[in-house]
Amino acid sequence: MGLSVSAIDKALFNAAKNVRKNAHVPYSHFLVGAAILAENGEIYAGCNVENAAYPQGICAEGAAICALVSSGQKTIKRIYIVASGVEPVMPCGGCRQKIREFADKNCIIICHGIDGDKFEASLEQLLPHSFGPENLGVMK
Ligand code: THU
Repeated sequence: MGLSVSAIDKALFNAAKNVRKNAHVPYSHFLVGAAILAENGEIYAGCNVENAAYPQGICAEGAAICALVSSGQKTIKRIYIVASGVEPVMPCGGCRQKIREFADKNCIIICHGIDGDKFEASLEQLLPHSFGPENLGVMK
């Protein structure tokens, strides 16, 4: 028997919350953690890693995707993002596209402000009419 969605979300929230503590954010002081449920049932997490050369910084979602792929996994079944503040923080445009590479359009993205609210939407809602591997004749 698989885990319930609420049990999965609790595990994803905890993973994102814990990895968020490792964020390297000397410039923005804005800590973000992301946790991905992969096809194998494992959770892969990442935090944002900023850089003195600002554009070289990596978002938490990108770091979690690198952990997923580095572990030999290729599918995002669900992704949970925990950031500073009350308002849920939405993935930036670049991260939506990064998620698009490894998720199907119904994949649920959950955004959670650590001190408050939660918002969830599908990838299709956050990145409609998107470009992906299929456009290059590559099936996921
Ligand atoms: N950031 C993320 O890691 N994920 C998001 O979804 C939004 C923004 C990071 C990038 C940067 O380190 C800091 O938050 C402020 O933009």
